[in-house]
Amino acid sequence: MAIGIGLLGLGTVGAGVAAILASPEGRHPLVGELVLRRVAVRDPARARAVSLDPTLLVTDPRLVVDDPAVDIVVEVMGGLEPARSLILQAIAAGKSVVTANKAVIARYGEEIAAAAADRGVYVLIEAAVGGGIPIIEPLKQSLGSNRILRVSGIVNGTTNYILSRMAAEGAAYADVLADAQRLGYAEADPAADVQGGDAADKIAILAGLAYGGSIERSAIPTEGIDRLEARDVTYANQLGYVVKLLAVAERFEASASPESADNNVALDVRVHPTLLPRSHPLAGVDGVNNAILVEGDPVGQVMFFGPGAGAGPTASAVVADILNIAGIRQLGAPAGALDPLLAASRWRQCSLVDSARTRHRNYVRLLTRDEAGVIGKIGTAFGTAEVSIQSIVQYEASATASASSSGAGSGAGNGAEIVVITHEVEEARFRQALAAITALPEVETVAACLRTL
Ligand code: NAP
Ligand code: HSE
Repeated sequence: MAIGIGLLGLGTVGAGVAAILASPEGRHPLVGELVLRRVAVRDPARARAVSLDPTLLVTDPRLVVDDPAVDIVVEVMGGLEPARSLILQAIAAGKSVVTANKAVIARYGEEIAAAAADRGVYVLIEAAVGGGIPIIEPLKQSLGSNRILRVSGIVNGTTNYILSRMAAEGAAYADVLADAQRLGYAEADPAADVQGGDAADKIAILAGLAYGGSIERSAIPTEGIDRLEARDVTYANQLGYVVKLLAVAERFEASASPESADNNVALDVRVHPTLLPRSHPLAGVDGVNNAILVEGDPVGQVMFFGPGAGAGPTASAVVADILNIAGIRQLGAPAGALDPLLAASRWRQCSLVDSARTRHRNYVRLLTRDEAGVIGKIGTAFGTAEVSIQSIVQYEASATASASSSGAGSGAGNGAEIVVITHEVEEARFRQALAAITALPEVETVAACLRTL
């Protein structure tokens, strides 16, 4: 029985989906039942990465949603509006929706899930996180028996591609970003990638699924790679670390009994560039690849790895969702009856802890005067705030000059450059130490401050 597909968007992802539907040979037999009925674009005259019957193209996306021949609406246009309204209109018309739009789901997921549950339709989002990596359905279904302790990952392909090439080739940030855009990895506005917003959308979605409650997207502390200096990537490397943009969601009080916290969990959710020891499972994830490390009780550590962006991988995830819905339709399930594991479910309140209470290791780079006693004063400031130092390294003027000449950014001139790595400490104490260090007359500036695992 043919199943009508309506596409909202025929850009990187939409063209990838259309290409799969146009070549069902060798794939699951259900792919051959999927028929593309209508496709919304902004500019029908634009050259496309896939050849398509031009009469399918419309510029009014409502025509896709309202077309009675469209059974499943696939939203791959991006942006908040009209994407959100079109998803809600499709649901109201009794149509299941597949979307890759993490920005909409991270902000309006609860509203959308409630509307879908009321109308008895599915909204599936596998492509919204991790590109081609299956992570949404595994969290909803395969890992459902676990108490999730932590979800951490590299969930933005653009920034991982940029950081990998900066580290491997010393490539310039702007050049590599332009390559990521050309390859179709970046968002329409790449600020969402490089400022960390895209990763924050994704960790909000993953945390919501892992912990069973909705996450206040706007409250997630978010830092991107746009202010990261190449010299910190270089120094991290010299100290045995790689720098990755990490998104993390973890239970704040891991020591609390799971039973006592069952209806209300406090979470530490955040996105920031992070120094990972080279031995860490996420440290070797390079290029456009993403990886998500899930730590659960009793499963232990499970890592999901694969291409995190691009036409083919993302379309793979979109079509997998379409097949899930098509399979249920083929079974002839009664209208409105939903598989509770395939539909999103929420069962508790989640709140984000004040970041001042969270605990981390830190990397700090200070520009100082090059004179006797400076390291002692810095050590005293850390010690007074009860921040324990793991290592402290002073770079000579000649070393900073050579880092500059290899593309690592501006050096410290005749001053000194001091890099400190702390042991794990409460964020409030660390900030107290930094304030005292900044006030030292010998310290010109705190040039970089990064989290360390
Ligand atoms: P894209 O290349 O910019 O494509 C967007 C498509 O939507 C274009 O075909 C555009 O038409 C169409 N469109 C946008 N606004 C429209 C409107 N108001 N009316 C009609 N058509 C409209 O974007 P993309 O990279 O495919 O991403 C699409 C979605 O997937 C986004 O939510 C993104 O976050 C998500 N996603 C992307 C990737 C990736 O690797 N690219 C991976 C995972 C998820 P024109 O072609 O005529 O301009
Ligand atoms: N711009 C996103 C990224 C696309 O680079 O990861 C995949 O969600």
